[in-house]
This record gives sequence, C-alpha cells and structure tokens, in this order.
Amino acid sequence: MVKICCIGAGYVGGPTMAVIAVKCPAIEVVVVDISKPRIDAWNSDKLPIYEPGLDEVVKACRGKNLFFSTDVEKHVAEADIIFVSVNTPTKTRGLGAGKAADLTYWESAARMIADVSKSDKIVVEKSTVPVKTAEAIEKILTHNSKGINYQILSNPEFLAEGTAIEDLFKPDRVLIGGRETPEGRKAVQALKEVYAHWVPEENIITTNLWSAELSKLAANAFLAQRISSVNAMSALCEATGANVSEVSYAIGKDSRIGPKFLNASVGFGGSCFQKDILNLVYICECNGLPEVANYWKQVIKINDYQKSRFVNRVVSSMFNTVSGKKVAILGFAFKKDTGDTRETPAIDVCKGLLGDKAHVSIYDPEVTEDQIQRDLAMNKVSVVWDAYEATKGAHAVCILTEWNQFKELDYQKIFDNMQKPAFIFDGRNVVDAEKLRGIGFIVYSIGKPLDAWLKDMPAIA
Ligand code: UDX
Ligand code: UDX
Ligand code: ADP
Repeated sequence: MVKICCIGAGYVGGPTMAVIAVKCPAIEVVVVDISKPRIDAWNSDKLPIYEPGLDEVVKACRGKNLFFSTDVEKHVAEADIIFVSVNTPTKTRGLGAGKAADLTYWESAARMIADVSKSDKIVVEKSTVPVKTAEAIEKILTHNSKGINYQILSNPEFLAEGTAIEDLFKPDRVLIGGRETPEGRKAVQALKEVYAHWVPEENIITTNLWSAELSKLAANAFLAQRISSVNAMSALCEATGANVSEVSYAIGKDSRIGPKFLNASVGFGGSCFQKDILNLVYICECNGLPEVANYWKQVIKINDYQKSRFVNRVVSSMFNTVSGKKVAILGFAFKKDTGDTRETPAIDVCKGLLGDKAHVSIYDPEVTEDQIQRDLAMNKVSVVWDAYEATKGAHAVCILTEWNQFKELDYQKIFDNMQKPAFIFDGRNVVDAEKLRGIGFIVYSIGKPLDAWLKDMPAIA
C-alpha cells in the first residue's frame, strides 16, 4: 500500500488530500499540521474551511484511508510520497520584503523531513513557491540525506476556492515537474499513477522542475492580468457611457480571448494572485529584467486603483463625505462560496470608508466576526448576521462579494428601512440596477453607464 503524507492542512492540502483519498481507496493518506486546533477541526463535524462538497468527500473516507494528525514526524517517516503544502506568505521584513516569498515554513518542513526519514522519499512541492525552490529544497535534503534518496517534484495546485472539489475532480490539467534523470522520471511516473486513478492521461502534463514552478506563477499572473485589464476597461466605460458587461461579452466571443474570467469587479483578492505576481516581479528584478518586472507590477497597481476608485465613488456620490453615516457592507470574503478573507478587496474598501469616518456594518454569510475584526484590527466596525440588519438605517449599501443570496434580497424592504437618498454601490454587478432604480435607489454598478446623480458627482481618482 502506497502511503502519502501531506504537511499542511490548509485550503490546498486539506481538499486535495481528501480527493486523492476518495479516488484512491488503496492509498493511505495522512494530512499533518503543527496546528492542533486545525487538525481537531478536520477531525470534527465542523471542518476548518468552508468549501462546497468538501464535507461529503471527507465523510466518505475519513477514518478509512484519510487521517488528520498532529504527529508530523511519525507520518512523514512512514510515507512514500510527501506533499508539502505549507503557507508561503510574502516576506514582511528583510531582503525582498513586500515581494519575495517567505520560505521559512518550507525550509523547516524540509529540514524536518531530512531529520526523520529512514527510507527513500518522493517530496512533492504543492504550495506555490518561486521558481528554483525545488533546487533549494533538494540541497537541504541531499546535504542531510544519511544515504537516503530524495526525489523532488513540483506539482502545483490550480484549484480555485469555492470550486475546489469540482476543480480537483475534473482538473483542466495536472502538472508534474521533475528531474530529467532515470530516478526523476521514475518519481514522476509514481505520482502520475496516483492521479491516473481519475484524471485522463492526456490531461497529465510532465515537464522539468523549473517549467512546472514557473507555470504556476505564470498562470496566476495571466488570470490576474485579465481581471486588471477588464477593470481598467470598466473605468473607461464609466467615463464614456459604454457598458463593461457588453464589452466583456463581445470580446469574449473571440475564441482567442475566450469568455471566462472577464467580470469587472471591485478588485481581485485571494491568497494567490497578488503574492504570486509579487514573486514574479521579484524574480524578474533579481534576473536583471526591470521592464518585465514593471509590466507585471502594473497588474497590481490597477487592482489597487480599482479598490480606491470604488471608495472614491462612494464618498463623492454622498456629498463628498461619509463621516458619521452608516454604510452597510454586504460580503467580506474575497469571492463567493468561501469564508476566506485573505487579500479580500473588502479590507481596503472598509479601511477607506473608515478613514472617512463612516460607521461600517458588515454582513457575510460565511466569514466569522472574529476574522473580520482581525482583518480590520484597530478599527471599530459592527458585524451582523443578517443583510437586513446590516442595512437598517444605512445611508448606503456596498456589495463587495457576489454571494448568490444578494441577488434575491427584498430590496423594497431594504429601501424602506434606509436613509434617503438611498445608495447602492454594487462592486460585483450582482443586482438588477434598473429594478432597484425603479424602487428609488441611486445605483452605481462597476463599469456601467452612470445615472444622472452619479454623473453630477464625479469621483476624484
Ligand atoms: C486562483 C486561481 O484561479 C487558481 O487556479 C489558483 O490555484 C489559486 O488562485 P482563487 O484565488 O481561489 O484561485 O479564486 P479565483 O476564482 O481565481 O478568484 C480570484 C479573485 O479574482 C477573486 O477575488 C475573484 O472575485 C476575482 N475575479 C475573478 C474577478 O474579479 N473577476 C473575474 O472575472 C474572476
Ligand atoms: C489583428 C487581429 O487578430 C484581428 O482580429 C483584427 O481585426 C486586426 O488585427 P492581424 O494584425 O492581421 O489581426 O494579425 P494577427 O494574427 O492578430 O497578428 C498580429 C501580430 O501578432 C502579428 O505580427 C503576429 O505575428 C503576432 N502574434 C500573434 C504573435 O507574436 N504571437 C501570437 O501568439 C499571435
Ligand atoms: P494554503 O492556502 O496554501 O493551503 P494555509 O495557510 O491554508 O495555506 O495552510 C498551510 C498550513 O500549513 C497551515 O495550517 C499551517 O499550520 C501548516 N504548516 C506550516 N508549517 C508547517 C510545518 N512545518 N509542519 C506542519 N504544518 C505546517
């Protein structure tokens, strides 16, 4: 029986291993983490992350061939294949601060593997790490090898939160990078056999180590670039009277461009896009390619611009001040169907409004109050458990996450309980603006023609 151990029971490690376990009943999968509360949650009825379909998958195999444990060393020692899926945040201090990846967790995981291993191991890079990390890890392992043979593979994960289970069941592709030596090829083959239980062979791509690592950064950079491109267009649409949804639809019909991932928004968030682009920028700079670095930096600049543009629009529409006014925030997660708030645009928007002394009342169906308070540390906000409560007595509503339920709210009831004029700033284009205008709202939709009120109160960028 092949034994797999995954170090790191987070958004990537947890769902990925659950799916491997459910698809490969003959493989024993143990997910380990240094955080006891996290492991306890994985072993309980309330899993530590909200992800549609995850509960069912975990229930189907937990206790059979899927286990969650804090006994990191024991399970690493016993495994044939070790996935490393620890966090790789952006460095906050020292060389490369604000750009380079912080590989502290990765390095300590690698040293621990070297310490406890007594048999040959395939070590698989799962977390997004900058190009050439595998080489560094390989060095740590081989310099401490005690005669053990380590093969390092890069197997970046492309799942998106909110659709993780779907993405894992039917991945567009699985990418495996390895050394181009006989042992390297054998390791690639071993990992390929795991995925071949459910992924068609033609969708499993094998490359060298560096291509696999760079492909992950490149994929996220391209995806983020699409959003910044459409968001840049949204500003021009508002200025000229074009409708960004019509423009997106029209350009997406070109098969070379394609229709997906072209929704204008208040800005992209999530743990990957910004971090991976910053990494890419750092790698370019380190390799003497400032022009390339600047090209990618612009994707983040437009994202920051989009968030501050939104705040400016809110404030300028409301007579240039939100001081003392209640602003309801609907949605705090960085996208729908997740409780994750990492890099969510809601943080910047709330901070912007709070900076102008607004009273902010937040409702999100999945994000906990604790999390919101941590994200907005030092600021006073109220977090409520109902959209109607959040909007009661408010001067304005900002929709910052595209939760389906925000489409179905009783907006007449919301309008009746708000101050007048009542504003809705839709940062995700989820509401039917015309219908809401019929009720009496002043509605701002990203990238859509402005109504007369908003035209009279131009936002100062
Ligand atoms: C992303 C990649 O999609 C995934 O392949 C990779 O493995 C991890 O990073 P994730 O961050 O979970 O996944 O979600 P994603 O759906 O990509 O959305 C990222 C952000 O972009 C969200 O804030 C989302 O709201 C925003 N977005 C997405 C838009 O603003 N417009 C769009 O058209 C699509
Ligand atoms: C383009 C648009 O494709 C077309 O829809 C529009 O109507 C006019 O402009 P065209 O300039 O004729 O058409 O050719 P296109 O195939 O788009 O190529 C433009 C340039 O991009 C060429 O120099 C081509 O060599 C280059 N290119 C294209 C690349 O370098 N790489 C690619 O992957 C594709
Ligand atoms: P991702 O979104 O990449 O999955 P997360 O932050 O959700 O990132 O998960 C990473 C997990 O890795 C965390 O639960 C953290 O406790 C765990 N972790 C970090 N370093 C180690 C380590 N050396 N050994 C075991 N677990 C670790």
